[in-house]
Amino acid sequence: MDHNTLDHDRQIRCSADVVSEIRYLESKKNNPIVNDPYACLFISPEGGSMLKEALLQWPFFAEYLLSREKYFDDALNRYFQNTQEAQLVILGSGNDMRAERLLCLKGKKIFEVDFPDTISLKKEVLQNASQGLPDRVTYVGTDVSQDGFIDVLVQTGFNPNEKSVFLLQGLIYYMEPKGVDALFTGLGKILSQGSLLLVDYTSKDLGQEPYPENMKEYMLEKGFNVIEQVLLGTLTDKYFGKPHKEQWWVTEAEQA
Ligand SMILES: C[S@@+](CC[C@H](N)C(=O)[O-])C[C@H]1O[C@@H](n2cnc3c(N)ncnc32)[C@H](O)[C@@H]1O
Repeated sequence: MDHNTLDHDRQIRCSADVVSEIRYLESKKNNPIVNDPYACLFISPEGGSMLKEALLQWPFFAEYLLSREKYFDDALNRYFQNTQEAQLVILGSGNDMRAERLLCLKGKKIFEVDFPDTISLKKEVLQNASQGLPDRVTYVGTDVSQDGFIDVLVQTGFNPNEKSVFLLQGLIYYMEPKGVDALFTGLGKILSQGSLLLVDYTSKDLGQEPYPENMKEYMLEKGFNVIEQVLLGTLTDKYFGKPHKEQWWVTEAEQA
């Protein structure tokens, strides 16, 4: 994703609200591909205006993000239906409400990780809403690109010996390639066999091109076998009848 057009700090601060806005608008449709009844709690004027700006730059932005969300929902459903004992860790969790909206996650241990301010704000919104805070979710306010991030996660109760799914949805665009590399290296070292990594990326995110060929090799170096890689444009075609060739990808990789 090209960061030059929109101010980077503002992008990070409001990015979670932009995704909520998209989920909110989709959820109001008759047959939404993603139904998030909680999205309305997180929409903001800033998020709405940033979405308008993003749509000027990428007219397919909403369809891309919804297709990505659906792809990861499906992957989580498959994994948790087949794996009883597993934890979910959502990095850059923003306003993600899968803990509540996906049946396959009922009773599962979930960690939501984002910057401390984002986590505090989310907890405040949920505490003030009728359903309150889900008790199965551990909220971790930290910068995932910092050294020692995994230690912080373990201190909050994450068990590296159990299988886990790490979901990085819409995260690595906001990180430096060096930080992303350190994160994948750390995850590759700590995750138990059969753990799953779900991540979306563009051709520029890891500072290497071309993709997806390099991604398979890259992931293997980190200890993950890529199970599937899908160009988001093929999913926008499937769900919305709108194909695109932009190099935005979703990947599912398993700890080897
Ligand atoms: C585009 S939002 C996506 C939110 C959520 N995953 C979703 O799809 O609804 C990106 C999120 O990543 C978080 N983020 C970006 N860089 C981060 C970092 N280094 N450490 C922790 N969170 C980060 C932002 O605060 C923001 O909430």
